Amino acid sequence: MNRLKIMMLCLLALPALLFSQNVINPGAVWPDDKGEHIQAHGGGIIKLGKKYYWYGEARRADNDPDYRYVGCYESRDLVHWKNRGPALKLSDPEQLGHRWVLERPKVFYNKGSKTYVMYFHLDDARYKLARVGVAIAKTPQGPFKYLKSFRPLGLESRDIGQFIDDDGTAYLIFESRPTKGFYIAALSNDYLDVVKEVCFIRSPLEGGAVVHYKGLYYAIGSALTGWNPNPNKYATAKTLAGPWSEFKDMAPPETNTYGSQSTMMLKVAGTKSTTVIFMADQWKPKTQWDSRYLWMPLQIGDGRLWLPEPQPWILNVKTGEWKSAVR
Ligand code: DGJ
Repeated sequence: MNRLKIMMLCLLALPALLFSQNVINPGAVWPDDKGEHIQAHGGGIIKLGKKYYWYGEARRADNDPDYRYVGCYESRDLVHWKNRGPALKLSDPEQLGHRWVLERPKVFYNKGSKTYVMYFHLDDARYKLARVGVAIAKTPQGPFKYLKSFRPLGLESRDIGQFIDDDGTAYLIFESRPTKGFYIAALSNDYLDVVKEVCFIRSPLEGGAVVHYKGLYYAIGSALTGWNPNPNKYATAKTLAGPWSEFKDMAPPETNTYGSQSTMMLKVAGTKSTTVIFMADQWKPKTQWDSRYLWMPLQIGDGRLWLPEPQPWILNVKTGEWKSAVR
């Protein structure tokens, strides 16, 4: 092959190479800045200035089994993530015994106290404690210090989610098994407590997440099937307090949400468009460290929410636009 041909081939391959570097691949291994699969399962994301912070369960295979870990990753583009964790390394804080549980950590930033407040589902091996744990830090990456645990509003709480409305108000979402549904609840001024029920959505769903998009609230959740995926559903309401519509399928039910379970909806509002990302976990209960992330832009608007078939895609956080990476 002569030089000219090689140069031509390189030029042709360049866009593909550049593209591949900014591609989000739903369900694939997602390497961090060290080339290791991101450990932020059941996670949540907050934006601080121009940076995004992704927190979640860090379930590395070589974790010390006496501790539970929360991963923290930092990014400006939601594609390339720098490992800043572990944000929390915690040993059994309430004498819960062997195989105690720390799941679905979510972090809020409290502007008043300049404190990062982490909530997580704290439980014993049989999931009977049903409390939230709270930990605090002065920097986004921590280290977070354990503060306390309690049942929000005195109620059993298992899966938790977070919702920050457009006016900055922070809400905790928590699943309540006895009353078969999930609560959206307001936090105290310092975020260290859960003080007011804003809404109870009566539908036995976990992995609850909420987004506000073009004047309507959308809530999603998954059925109670443990680590196994099921058809996740959505409902809408004009105000957070409801009334909420019936829940409907958000993907072809036979796909079981493409093998995933909801954890959050992330709104990326850019200069040209707003994209709402469905963030979900594809759990691998026997090899949890290898559980994957299914992130896809939702088709959303006018009371309808739909998860398109997952495919590699490219996001521009500045404009808020996305496009398929499959030509
Ligand atoms: C489903 C929940 O969403 C997960 O966070 C975890 O608690 C599993 N159940 C445990 O079976």
